[in-house]
Order: sequence, then C-alpha cells, then structure tokens
Amino acid sequence: MSDINIGNIKYNLLEMFLELDDDELINIEQWINSRAYKKDLEEKRSLMKSEDILRNIGDAIKKKVPFEAVMPSEKISPPTVGDLADCTDSNTIHVDEFLYDKDEFEDMTQKKKIQLHYCVDCNSRNIKELIYVSHSMSKSVMMFIFKVVLPKDLEGKTFIDIGSRLGSVLYGAYYLSNVSTIMGIEMNKECCDVQEEIIDQFSMNRNRIKVIHSDVLDKKDIITTADIVIFNAVDFFVDNEKHKEIWYFLKANLQKGCFVLLNRSIASILLALNIIEEFKDWLTISKCNNIENELFFNVEDYTEIFLYTVN
Ligand SMILES: C[S@@+](CC[C@H](N)C(=O)[O-])C[C@H]1O[C@@H](n2cnc3c(N)ncnc32)[C@H](O)[C@@H]1O
Repeated sequence: MSDINIGNIKYNLLEMFLELDDDELINIEQWINSRAYKKDLEEKRSLMKSEDILRNIGDAIKKKVPFEAVMPSEKISPPTVGDLADCTDSNTIHVDEFLYDKDEFEDMTQKKKIQLHYCVDCNSRNIKELIYVSHSMSKSVMMFIFKVVLPKDLEGKTFIDIGSRLGSVLYGAYYLSNVSTIMGIEMNKECCDVQEEIIDQFSMNRNRIKVIHSDVLDKKDIITTADIVIFNAVDFFVDNEKHKEIWYFLKANLQKGCFVLLNRSIASILLALNIIEEFKDWLTISKCNNIENELFFNVEDYTEIFLYTVN
C-alpha cells in the first residue's frame, strides 16, 4: 500500500468534479464503472516504464556531452529569420529537453545552476529574460508523437530522423513504437559517436536502428525509402541558403504518402525562408491517428507538433 492519503485524493477529485457539468460527470462515471480505466491505467504504467528507459539513456548521455550538449566541433549560430531570430550568442542558453525535463530544469534554476535572466547593463536592475533553446525533443513530446500522433502499427515501416543529433528521437522510436527500421542521419561526427555508443550501451538491435554520418543532401537513396521523416529546426546549424536547399531536396525525394513530422508548422518555416509559394501543394495536414490515447497527456502542451502527408 502506498502512504497516499485517500481522503486527500477524494478531496482533489471532488475539486475537479466541481468543474464538470452533468454530461461530463456521467462520462467520467461510465469510464470508471466500465472498468476501462483499468486498461488505461495499465497502458499509462507501461508508458511510464518506457519513459524511465529514456531517462536512463538521457542520464548516460549527460556523462558524454558538455552541459549545454553542444559539441566542441559544432558551429552553432542564432538564426537570422523565423521565430528564434531574436536569439543572440549572449542572450541564449542551450538546455537539451531530452536530457533535462521540466522538473530538472526548475530544480537547476532553484539551485542557481542555470539563470533565467541577464543584466543588460552591469550592476543595474535592468535585467532581461534569457532565451532557452533545446536542440532535442523532450521525452514527453516523443511519447505524444508515438502514442497519439503516428499510427499505432508501424510494422514494416521506415522511420528517418533528419539531423538525429544525440539520437533522442531514434531511442523514442525504438522504445515507444514497433517501427521496423529506424535511421538517423546526422552531419556532426561527435554526435554520431554518442549515438553509436548509446546504441551499444543499451544493447539495441542494430538490425533495427542505424546511424548514418552524412549530410542528408548526400543520402537521396535513403530518403526515398522513408515512410515517416522527422525534421526539426535545423536553423541554428545551417544558414538560410542551406536550409532552403534541404527543403527543395525533401520535396524532390520524399515519396507520395510519406508522413512528415515537424515541431513547428511548415507554413511558418517556409514563410520565414521566403519559399512558401513553391511548396503550396506539396503537403496535406494529417489528423492524429490515436485520439483515444490523448487521455495520457495534457494535449495543450503539444500544440507545436504537426503531422503532414506528402501529396
Ligand atoms: C535541432 S537538432 C534535431 C535533433 C533531433 N532530430 C530532435 O528533433 O530532437 C538538428 C540536428 O540536425 C543536424 N543537421 C543540420 N543540417 C544537417 C544536414 N544537412 N544533414 C544532416 N544533419 C544535419 C545538426 O547537426 C543537428 O544535430
């Protein structure tokens, strides 16, 4: 038995029920009475176990990379267009959300390991908020992607992360889905080395998960095999011309029906790059495939995840 106070739980439930109208209350009653919630509870427990594995992987990566998870060989420059164009070298801190989740972030700010503000002119109270940027997706976003957004059965499918960095998305695909082939294409050698070491350290099946050290532009043969690609914000890593080139390359080589997953809307990316007209009829927005699993998530936290299909 846990030592949780049952009276306290009832108090909290009543507080929540106060917010519901009669129909909503009946819906909740039916959920409990049908005992469907037991199955949902099991599923939630299994999701938490997968999250624990990803947390262990994150902890192993922390020992291999600098605190900001930017490699010595990397040249990272704040973007000049788009929603992160206000970032500069002095007002931006890189905190990897796969390695440090919300609770760890708060803990680190309380312990002053990371600061939230910077002084605009020294010794004054004229301070501004620092901008925190993550170059990996968080564990919770990945759980949402694989449990709610993508189809449940990915047997026989090929999943490619373009710019796989520390490999977080690859490990998400490995532990949260049954997708058959998982490939990461990453241009930075040090990042590829971290991914290779983690794959070995956690004894992942190398027939299922692969890392390719390359510029994606040189991997047309692989990109044409994708059933699902994920391509997240490379604007700190490439200049605008190269960024455009990657989009033209994807448009030319992704096959009809391929899913494209992004952590911002395609319109916002292409508008910022000023190439939206040429991509007008390329993608169609897709609905989430497993709405029934939304009950495991606070869906408002995931409005920046977009799923498209190539026309
Ligand atoms: C923002 S990180 C994305 C990490 C991970 N895919 C995620 O979504 O959590 C972008 C990564 O793309 C890599 N990258 C940028 N341009 C690339 C290219 N042309 N070919 C391969 N990798 C590239 C960068 O080195 C960087 O590690």
